[in-house]
Amino acid sequence: MAAWPGHARNPVLPYPLLLIAHLFAAVMFVGAVFFEVLILGSALERVPAGVKRRVESAVAQRARRLMPWVLALLYASGLGMAWHYRAALAQPLASSFALMLALKIALALSVLGHFIVAMRTRGHGERIARRFQRIHVSVFCHMLGIVLLAKGMFYFTG
Ligand code: HEM
Repeated sequence: MAAWPGHARNPVLPYPLLLIAHLFAAVMFVGAVFFEVLILGSALERVPAGVKRRVESAVAQRARRLMPWVLALLYASGLGMAWHYRAALAQPLASSFALMLALKIALALSVLGHFIVAMRTRGHGERIARRFQRIHVSVFCHMLGIVLLAKGMFYFTG
């Protein structure tokens, strides 16, 4: 079981509420990234170039509207929960739980960096499309690590 068990009580925002908000936001964000990388990318290879461009721009427009809110919820709830583990995070090498949580947060911050770059990238054409594809694949790999660490930190403890 967990090497760092116990969720301290927060009178303002109870831990279970933060966790549920975090989980819903993670489902939306991770789901969107998986959909982009595993479904949309190859589906768009089969449609005419004009249609592909229009779908890509509609998807990008929708993502620019929705995702900032999803990410705000994801990172705010994550921060709220991380506060409960601040003593563990102050010594990330002292337990495997703290190390995995610190790595998970580092990966999440890197995802934020990717997101900011993607939000600032505008325009069309092969070069931009390739840049978006690289960003999506990199975020996809980060997601795999984040989800494995998020669950592993409670079970792979030494
Ligand atoms: C891309 C960003 C992120 C994703 C996709 C993500 C995803 C997840 C997932 C899937 C879980 C497991 C939840 C469960 O099983 O119920 C989790 C747990 C957790 N996350 Fe995140 N997270 C992200 C960012 C963050 C950030 C920025 C922080 C802190 C600053 C954070 C702190 C935590 C904590 C403390 C837990 C443990 C919750 C628990 O089970 O008690 N996360 N995260």
